[in-house]
Amino acid sequence: MASTATTTVILFFLTFSLLKTTATSDSDCKGRRIHIRKLPTRFNLELLTNCSSFFPLYPDFCPHLANHGLGPKTDNRCHSWYRTDTHLLELFFHRRLLEYPCLSPNPLQSDAVFLPFYSSLDSLRFLYGPDYNVSHLHGLDLFSYLQSNDPDIWGRNNGHDHFLIMARTSWDFSQPLPEILGDENGEEIERLWGTSFLMLPEFFNLTVLTLESRAWPWQEQAIPHPTSFHPSTVGFLDSWILRVRKSRRSTLMFFAGGGGTSPTGNPNVRRSIREECGAVQNSSVVDGGRFQKLCEIVDCSNGICEHDPIRYMKPMLQASFCLQPPGETPSRRSTFDGILAGCIPVFFEDQSAKNQFQWHLPPAEYEEFSVTIPKEDVVFKGLKVVDVLMGIPRAEVRRMREKVMELIPKVMYRKHGSSLGLRAKKDAFDIAIEGTLQRIKDRLKDVSAAG
Ligand SMILES: *[C@@H]1O[C@H](CO)[C@@H](O)[C@H](O)[C@H]1NC(C)=O
Ligand SMILES: *[C@@H]1O[C@H](CO)[C@@H](O)[C@H](O)[C@H]1NC(C)=O
Ligand SMILES: *[C@@H]1O[C@H](CO)[C@@H](O)[C@H](O)[C@H]1NC(C)=O
Ligand SMILES: *[C@@H]1O[C@H](CO)[C@@H](O)[C@H](O)[C@H]1NC(C)=O
Repeated sequence: MASTATTTVILFFLTFSLLKTTATSDSDCKGRRIHIRKLPTRFNLELLTNCSSFFPLYPDFCPHLANHGLGPKTDNRCHSWYRTDTHLLELFFHRRLLEYPCLSPNPLQSDAVFLPFYSSLDSLRFLYGPDYNVSHLHGLDLFSYLQSNDPDIWGRNNGHDHFLIMARTSWDFSQPLPEILGDENGEEIERLWGTSFLMLPEFFNLTVLTLESRAWPWQEQAIPHPTSFHPSTVGFLDSWILRVRKSRRSTLMFFAGGGGTSPTGNPNVRRSIREECGAVQNSSVVDGGRFQKLCEIVDCSNGICEHDPIRYMKPMLQASFCLQPPGETPSRRSTFDGILAGCIPVFFEDQSAKNQFQWHLPPAEYEEFSVTIPKEDVVFKGLKVVDVLMGIPRAEVRRMREKVMELIPKVMYRKHGSSLGLRAKKDAFDIAIEGTLQRIKDRLKDVSAAG
C-alpha cells in the first residue's frame, strides 16, 4: 500500500515532466513566468521512497503521500476531506506548480525559478537521524549542485529570483552556524535544535516559503499551514461554506490542545486557558433564549488529532471563538482549521499570525476577523478570556464571523486538477505564488538599484 502510493507519485511526476507545458498567452504571463529547476531525484522523489524507513523517532508517512501529498480521503464518501500531513505540503506545492499556467521551459526567460527541493523531508536525517551532528551542512549539497550544473541559472541574478518551500517552521532551520557557537577548535559543542539552512550565507538571496517565520525574518515568508479541506469544485466549496454559515454556535469558546504540561511547570497561556476552560466547562449561559456552553476542550495530546480532522472540525463548527494560544512555536495549524469552520480566532500574541501571514491574512484587517488578548494579561493579571468574549455584542460577533468566512477560500489549498471555476478563485497556493513573484520583483529592483 505504502510503496504503491510512492510509486504512483513518482510515476506521475515522471510522466508529467514529459508533457509539453502549454503556456497561456504571452501577455497574461508577463512578469509571472516560473521555471521549475530540474534537480536530481535525491533532492525530492527519492526522499519519498524512504517514507517508511525514516528514523526511529519519526513516524511512517507513506499513507499520507496519497493524492500528491494531500493524504488519503477521510472517508470514501467524502469529497473534500483528507488526512493531510503538514510536512507533505512540499510535495503538494510541487504538484500544484506543475499545473501553473505560466511555466517557462527556459530559465533565462523566467521571472522566478522554483527549486523542487523537499527541504523538510531532507532535514529529517539531520533532525532525527544520523546526520544530527552535521546539521549545519543541510542544504550545502543543493548549493553545490546549483553552482556546478548550469551555474548561469543561479548566477543570472545571484539566486535572488530563486524560491523554495519548507513545510516546517523556520525554527527548525535556523540553528546558528558552528563558528558562531564558538566551535573553532573543532570541539564537541552542544547542538541546538534544527539545521542551519536559513543561516547559510549561500542561501541569503533565496526566497523561502515556510509555515512560520522567525521574529525577524530574512529570506522567509510564512504561508498557511495546510488543513484537511481540499475541494475540487466551486460546488464543494460553496456547500461547505453554506454548512459553516448555517451551523448553530452552541459553544462560546473552543480549544484544541495537546497535554501541554510544560516540563518546568512555568505559567503559560495554554495552561491558564486549560484551567479556565476546565472551571467553566460544565456551565452554560442563556444567550438570546438559547443555552450556550461556555467552553469546550478537545485533547489533542500525542498528535492524535493531526490526521483526524473530525475530532476537532465538529466542535469548531459549533463554537463562536477558537482559542489559538502559542504552542511549541507561536503559530498553529489550528488557526486555519478554525477559519475553515467559521470560528473566530482568538490570538494571545501577534507572533501567532499577524506578524506571519501578511499575504493571506491582511494585517490591517485583524480587528475585523479576530480577537487579540495579550497573554500577559491572562497569565499574570488574571484576565478571564470568557469575560472578554462574552463582552462582545452579538451583532459584532456575527460581523466577524462573516469576515472569517470570506477568508475560507484564501487559506485553503484546493485540490490539484480542480475545475476551471474553482481555479478562477485564488487559494492559498495562488496567493503564495503571487506574493513570491512580487517579492522577487522588488528584490531584483533593489539589487539593481544598489549595483
Ligand atoms: C533512505 O534511507 C536509507 C537508510 O536509512 C539511507 O541510506 C538513504 O540515504 C536514504 N535516502 C535518502 C534520499 O535520504
Ligand atoms: C557524528 O556522531 C557520530 C556518533 O554519534 C560519530 O560517529 C561521527 O563521527 C560524528 N560525525 C561528525 C562529523 O562529527
Ligand atoms: C547574493 O547577492 C549578492 C548581491 O546582491 C551577491 O553579491 C552575492 O554573491 C549573492 N550570494 C550568492 C550566494 O549568490
Ligand atoms: C464536568 O462534568 C464532568 C462529567 O459530566 C465531570 O467529570 C467534571 O468533574 C465536571 N467539571 C467541573 C469543573 O465541574
